[in-house]
Amino acid sequence: MTIHMKNVYLIRDKNVILSNINWDVRPGEHWAIIGLNGSGKTSLLNIINGYIYPTKGEVSILGKAFGSNDLRELRKSIGFVSSSLQEMIYGNETVEDIVLSGKYASIGLYESPSEEDRCQALDLMEQFELADLRIRKYSTLSQGERQKVLLARALMGIF
Ligand SMILES: Nc1ncnc2c1ncn2[C@@H]1O[C@H](COP(=O)(O)OP(=O)(O)OP(=O)(O)O)[C@@H](O)[C@H]1O
Ligand SMILES: [Mg+2]
Repeated sequence: MTIHMKNVYLIRDKNVILSNINWDVRPGEHWAIIGLNGSGKTSLLNIINGYIYPTKGEVSILGKAFGSNDLRELRKSIGFVSSSLQEMIYGNETVEDIVLSGKYASIGLYESPSEEDRCQALDLMEQFELADLRIRKYSTLSQGERQKVLLARALMGIF
């Protein structure tokens, strides 16, 4: 199972944001989540990514149960692109470093990437036609260019 959620609740300040979510996603399935503003879509995705912990219930991602696995490790196997992620990226980081940071699922690059990682990042930047923007700062990019950088970042290390 890619995503497994059972009786999941998210409660903040007595507000029930998610109530009794039961959801299974199998490998190869594609899903769309549709809902009103404030209905809990981003919260649901943030739980899957291990950014927030559910108040109650059972979650396992890629067969790994929350609570008994290191979420920082698990995150490296998840490619995530979102407008909520765009806000977290540091504006003064270069395109290349942002793509490389996908390997570690970190915001900011704190590790020393291997030669192989750099080759993969370059490959991805070429695929998304970002190679010429390699050393440009994120804050100077257009909206579409930013989206492509985050897509390349999400694919980094996932093969
Ligand atoms: N930390 C928090 N404390 C209190 N309320 C919160 C917290 N985080 C989210 N909420 C509330 O939970 C609800 C769900 O928010 P969420 O961002 O998941 O909605 P959404 O479906 O992604 O909405 P949108 O379509 O506007 O992006 C909102 O009403 C929001 O104000
Ligand atoms: Mg949202």
